[in-house]
Amino acid sequence: MPQITRRSLAAASLAAFAAPRLANAQGAAFPTRPITMVIPFAPGGPTDIVGRLLAETMSREIGQPVVVENTTGAGGTLGAQRVATARPDGYTILLHHIGMGVIPTMYRRLAYDPVNSFEPLGLVTEVPMTIVGRKDIPAGNLTELIAYMKKQGDGFNLADAGIGSSSALCGALFANAIGVKPTVIPFRGTGPAMQEILGGRVDILCDQTTQTTEYIRGGQVKVFATPSRSRIATLPDLPTTAEAGLPGFEVTVWHGLYAPKGTPAPISTRLTQSLQAALRDPRIVQRFAEIGTTPVSQEDATPEAHRRFWTADIAKWKPIIETTNSYAD
Ligand code: MLT
Repeated sequence: MPQITRRSLAAASLAAFAAPRLANAQGAAFPTRPITMVIPFAPGGPTDIVGRLLAETMSREIGQPVVVENTTGAGGTLGAQRVATARPDGYTILLHHIGMGVIPTMYRRLAYDPVNSFEPLGLVTEVPMTIVGRKDIPAGNLTELIAYMKKQGDGFNLADAGIGSSSALCGALFANAIGVKPTVIPFRGTGPAMQEILGGRVDILCDQTTQTTEYIRGGQVKVFATPSRSRIATLPDLPTTAEAGLPGFEVTVWHGLYAPKGTPAPISTRLTQSLQAALRDPRIVQRFAEIGTTPVSQEDATPEAHRRFWTADIAKWKPIIETTNSYAD
C-alpha cells in the first residue's frame, strides 16, 4: 500500500484544483492571448481583404488581437494543412473559401484530411467573380475576347492561384467552355496575379469583386463578364457570362471560418459568437458593400449552416471535377 506522505497529499490537492482550472481555461477565460487567423493565399488578394476586415473586427469584439498569417501555396492546401494540424485550442483558425468544397475531390493525395480535420464555425460571405484582362487586350467584349483567345492558342495566358483556388476553377471552366488551352501561370494568390495584369504581362484573370471592383472602376483593367447567375449590384452594366453568349458555367465564391477538429465546444462557440458580431458591425457591412459582397445572415454564420452548405458544395463539385478530369495530380 503506498505510504501517504505530506508531499503526495500536496500533489493530490493540486490535482484536485487542476481540473476545474483547465475547464475554465478552455471556456470562459478564452481568449487570453492573440489568435492567429490563417489565410491560405497571398497578402493583398481577395481572401486576404475579407480576412483582414474580419480579423480586425473580431479583435475588437473578442478583446485579443486576431493576427493574420498568410500561409500560401499549393492552391490553398498548405494553409489548410497548417490549421488541420494545429493544436485544437482556438488560437489557430482558418479563413478559407470555395476551395474547401473542391479540394476534397480535386486532391487525391493530401497530407491532411480535407473534411474531417476541421470544425466549421460559420459562413462569412458569398462573392461574385469577374473575368478581367490587361487594359490593352485587343477585345472589347466577351465574344471578341473568346475570338482572340482562340486565335492566340497557347500564346494566350491566364493567371490563377493554383489548383484548388477559385481563380483556377473559374479559369478552367471558362477555357473548357470555349474549347481553348491557354498557358496557365499560377501565383500564390490573385493579389500578385493582379499585379501582373496591371503591368500588362499576363492576359486575363478570373477573380473576385472584393479585389477587382476598384481596378474595374478605376479603368486599370478591362472587364468582360461575371460568371454569376445574375448581374452584380455594384457593377450593374457588366453582363453575366450567359447574357454575353456563354451559358452553362457559374462560379461564386463562398467563405467560411474553421477551427481544428477537436476544439472544445465552449471555445468554438465563442469564436462563432465573435464571427456573428463582426458580421453585424456596420463598418464591415459598408466595406463589404463597396467591394461587391454582403455578410451572410446570422443564421448562416453558424456551424450547422456552414456544415450543411460545405457538404452540399463538395457534392456539387464532385461530378464536375470527375467528368472534366480536373484532378490536381
Ligand atoms: C486569393 O485570395 O488570392 C484568391 O482568393 C485565390 C483564389 O483565386 O481562389
